[in-house]
Amino acid sequence: MPSPFSKVLLFFFYLFLTLMPFLVISDDRTILLNLKQHWGNPPWTLSWNSTSSPCGWPEIQCTGGSVTGLHLHNKNITNSIPLSICDLKNLTVLDLSYNYITGNFPTVLYNCSGLQSLDLSGNYFIGPIPSDIDRMSSLQVIHIAYSNFSGDIPPAICRLPELQIFYLYRNQFNGTFPAEIGNLSNLVELDMAENSLFLPARIPPEFGKLNNLVFLSMRTTNLIGKIPESFASLYNLQILDLAINNLTGSIPLELFQLKNLTFVSLTKNHLLGEIPTPIKSSNLFRLDLSENNFTGSIPQELFQLENLSFVYLNKNQLSGEISIPIESLKLTELDLSVNNLTGSIPMDFWKLQQLTHLILFSNNFSGCLY
Ligand SMILES: *[C@@H]1O[C@H](CO)[C@@H](O)[C@H](O)[C@H]1NC(C)=O
Ligand SMILES: *[C@@H]1O[C@H](CO)[C@@H](O)[C@H](O)[C@H]1NC(C)=O
Ligand SMILES: *[C@@H]1O[C@H](CO)[C@@H](O)[C@H](O)[C@H]1NC(C)=O
Ligand SMILES: *[C@@H]1O[C@H](CO)[C@@H](O)[C@H](O)[C@H]1NC(C)=O
Ligand SMILES: *[C@@H]1O[C@H](CO)[C@@H](O)[C@H](O)[C@H]1NC(C)=O
Ligand SMILES: *[C@@H]1O[C@H](CO)[C@@H](O)[C@H](O)[C@H]1NC(C)=O
Ligand SMILES: *[C@@H]1O[C@H](CO)[C@@H](O)[C@H](O)[C@H]1NC(C)=O
Ligand SMILES: *[C@@H]1O[C@H](CO)[C@@H](O)[C@H](O)[C@H]1NC(C)=O
Ligand SMILES: *[C@@H]1O[C@H](CO)[C@@H](O)[C@H](O)[C@H]1NC(C)=O
Ligand SMILES: *[C@@H]1O[C@H](CO)[C@@H](O)[C@H](O)[C@H]1NC(C)=O
Ligand SMILES: *[C@@H]1O[C@H](CO)[C@@H](O)[C@H](O)[C@H]1NC(C)=O
Ligand SMILES: *[C@@H]1O[C@H](CO)[C@@H](O)[C@H](O)[C@H]1NC(C)=O
Repeated sequence: MPSPFSKVLLFFFYLFLTLMPFLVISDDRTILLNLKQHWGNPPWTLSWNSTSSPCGWPEIQCTGGSVTGLHLHNKNITNSIPLSICDLKNLTVLDLSYNYITGNFPTVLYNCSGLQSLDLSGNYFIGPIPSDIDRMSSLQVIHIAYSNFSGDIPPAICRLPELQIFYLYRNQFNGTFPAEIGNLSNLVELDMAENSLFLPARIPPEFGKLNNLVFLSMRTTNLIGKIPESFASLYNLQILDLAINNLTGSIPLELFQLKNLTFVSLTKNHLLGEIPTPIKSSNLFRLDLSENNFTGSIPQELFQLENLSFVYLNKNQLSGEISIPIESLKLTELDLSVNNLTGSIPMDFWKLQQLTHLILFSNNFSGCLY
């Protein structure tokens, strides 16, 4: 027979065991309930109460029973980010995108020492990216697009060795960006697009060192000078968008030897010279070279690319005759207007079943299109 004393002990032991999961997460829950209060008990926090486990709340991501992610996309948050958010010791993912948060970059997050992914896009932040942002040394993803950040991209960005994704499109950056971005050897996606207030700058040849880069957009970023020859070593590049800048010179000879390229837009620049051959980018799907000063003839092999679907070469000075091999079955849109093309228009166009747009006006074609 157990003594009454050991029964009591047993009871408390039982109590401890059943409550343990709650005890473990209770700290995180208190922190989150404080956050809820800080943000004014908004309706979407209805399930955030003191009797349920945060791991069951829709906005919360847990790993091994502790809170590791906060997903607060489009929650109408207007208040600042409180210091206490970093009391969530295991926080690795913080998504505050599409809210109404104002003020400078939230350096309170420096205390979230394990933060790997930070999404602040679609808010009303102003001012620069702080020059000591490298204190968030675990960051793999920085998404600060659609905001009002200004100033320079600080060199400290280049001291985030884990950085894989850096999205800063659509801001008000009006300074410079460092060539040392090329040192971010883990970078996979870099989107700087739609920052027309950047000071005029050349594309740093150092960017050619980013051999894990898959996505690069510098559309409308006030670029001048040439596309660096070093781009020939961006082996993994799939998407290259340098549209709407003041780029000059010719396309680097080896650019179209990058095997993984699928999407290339160089439209609205001042590029010249011939479209380089050979073209080994066999996955090419969309090619926009329109509104430049390209000369010479359209390489025959372009239309032999199996997946090529959208081609815009309009508003250049391309000359010579065109012939479309019937293999280019996927061709969907082709714009060759406003060039110097001659010869007759190939009858084979009519055999292309996917073709929905064919624009050929303002050339020197002879004969009739019957
Ligand atoms: C607490 O929230 C949970 C859902 O997270 C809900 O099932 C439960 O009824 C709530 N409890 C109280 C007392 O509101
Ligand atoms: C949470 O962080 C603590 C240290 O702060 C660590 O001991 C623990 O393993 C982490 N838990 C998880 C699930 O990552
Ligand atoms: C957003 O919050 C404001 C108060 O901060 C409130 O007036 C408004 O109704 C909220 N909008 C939505 C869609 O919840
Ligand atoms: C970070 O937390 C420490 C204590 O853990 C505190 O002393 C410090 O003020 C905090 N710093 C910031 C920038 O929040
Ligand atoms: C952010 O910039 C937009 C223009 O892009 C402007 O209309 C808006 O007022 C700015 N907001 C803030 C908070 O600076
Ligand atoms: C950049 O923009 C900020 C915010 O609009 C402004 O305060 C600053 O003077 C601008 N800097 C330059 C060099 O134009
Ligand atoms: C970045 O790369 C350059 C060479 O392009 C090198 O001189 C420099 O030391 C590197 N910087 C860092 C911080 O690694
Ligand atoms: C190209 O893409 C394929 C498939 O996504 C990938 O396996 C390969 O590593 C990439 N890079 C090169 C240089 O082919
Ligand atoms: C090209 O440069 C001119 C003159 O500096 C400038 O006015 C124009 O906005 C630039 N165009 C683009 C697309 O950057
Ligand atoms: C093309 O070259 C001509 C003559 O050099 C120049 O006038 C024109 O502005 C250039 N067009 C573009 C889009 O660069
Ligand atoms: C064309 O695209 C398909 C899928 O979209 C892909 O499987 C195939 O490998 C591509 N062909 C070439 C030659 O890249
Ligand atoms: C294009 O054609 C026009 C008139 O047909 C001619 O004046 C011009 O020199 C040609 N340009 C090129 C680059 O061939």
